[in-house]
Amino acid sequence: MKRRNLIVGAAAALTVGQLVGCARVDRTETGSVTTSPDQAPARQPRPATPPPVRALRSAASSRGLYFGAAIQAGTLGDSRLRSIVVRDCSTITPEWAMKWDALAPGRTYNFSEMDQLASFAARNGLAMRGHTLLWHKSLPSWAASALASSRDWAIIDDHFSKVIGRYGNQVREWDVINEPIEPNHGGRGLRNNQFYKAFGEDYIERALESARARAPRARMVINEYGLEYNSGYEGQRRLSLLRLLERLRSRGAPVDTVGLQAHLDLRKGTVYADGIYGLMRDIRNMGLKVAITELDVAEANTGLSVERRDSLVADETRRYLDIVLQFNNVLGVSTWGLNDSHSWLRTQRSSANRGLPYDREWQAKPMHNAILTAFA
Ligand code: G3I
Repeated sequence: MKRRNLIVGAAAALTVGQLVGCARVDRTETGSVTTSPDQAPARQPRPATPPPVRALRSAASSRGLYFGAAIQAGTLGDSRLRSIVVRDCSTITPEWAMKWDALAPGRTYNFSEMDQLASFAARNGLAMRGHTLLWHKSLPSWAASALASSRDWAIIDDHFSKVIGRYGNQVREWDVINEPIEPNHGGRGLRNNQFYKAFGEDYIERALESARARAPRARMVINEYGLEYNSGYEGQRRLSLLRLLERLRSRGAPVDTVGLQAHLDLRKGTVYADGIYGLMRDIRNMGLKVAITELDVAEANTGLSVERRDSLVADETRRYLDIVLQFNNVLGVSTWGLNDSHSWLRTQRSSANRGLPYDREWQAKPMHNAILTAFA
């Protein structure tokens, strides 16, 4: 595997203004930016202009890939976030708003938050990832009770019709099933979730078929985590996923793409190159595509210097991307957020976690450069 030197230069510490200014944003949120003479700012000494940092989306597209990020509807009020998303991303993933329990915590659907994200995406020419149709953690209690008592697939079909019917023309990839694997549950490595309890393993193929029928041009994705490190458990997860995919392919089930969440974790050591390589090779040999769907890095020790912490995060990011981007069936990379202040890891690991491309002040960090150079 070709190792590239990690380029952690001045460019890694640019503010949004510098990123947006010197990179001359070719895409603004609402049309081109103009200033009339009376608005022209008073002449200021020009700061030394650092070399422009390439937008992540253009670096990705030079490899025929997309770059995207998960976005929370509640953060769309931040103009810096909007500018950076439009500059860096060609697709967004609703971090929460499209989930079943977000749309319909009670039986009534409320699409307002998701509509905000969809409108933002449409206004700015961004695609969306459909995250996610079935997930054991986002099934609202009313639907869980109905499924348990009636085992009526119409409940699921109705949900798919509502969500795909409303957003399907903006979604290129549907995370139809999120996290179906759990080796500790027995059952051929499948999670004994509410859907499995109601319909058995067939729920996976039925869900893929129901989604395909409603979104015939989109990619049908099974999205999974915990596949990156050298442990017996993660080895079992990789094997269980591959066996599931083989069974689905042998039955002609409409699965096109495997979503690798890629929540990297420095507490687990460094990523297991042979394990990831073998997983990618076997997925490719099945004729399936891969999307890296939720890339971020959980730190092990936030007591180190910021420089050291950022370097460890960037190194792990590069290690992982260097392996998966060797494969030509990778469609794109999405990070699970852009700015550390919005990361789920703030509650799951540390409020100080620095596992995303930008810090709280929207300065691009070495992880940003690590992704850029992995695309090079
Ligand atoms: O914003 C709402 C608020 O309006 C509402 O009053 C409140 C009621 O509980 O919920 C708030 O939403 C929270 C939401 O995050 C904010 O974005 C939800 O409570 C909270 O459960 C939700 O957590 C999300 C979690 O999935 C569960 O949906 C995290 O943000 C999100 O990062 C996490 O993402 C998952 C992926 O979907 C699947 N892979 C793992 C990943 C991390 O767990």
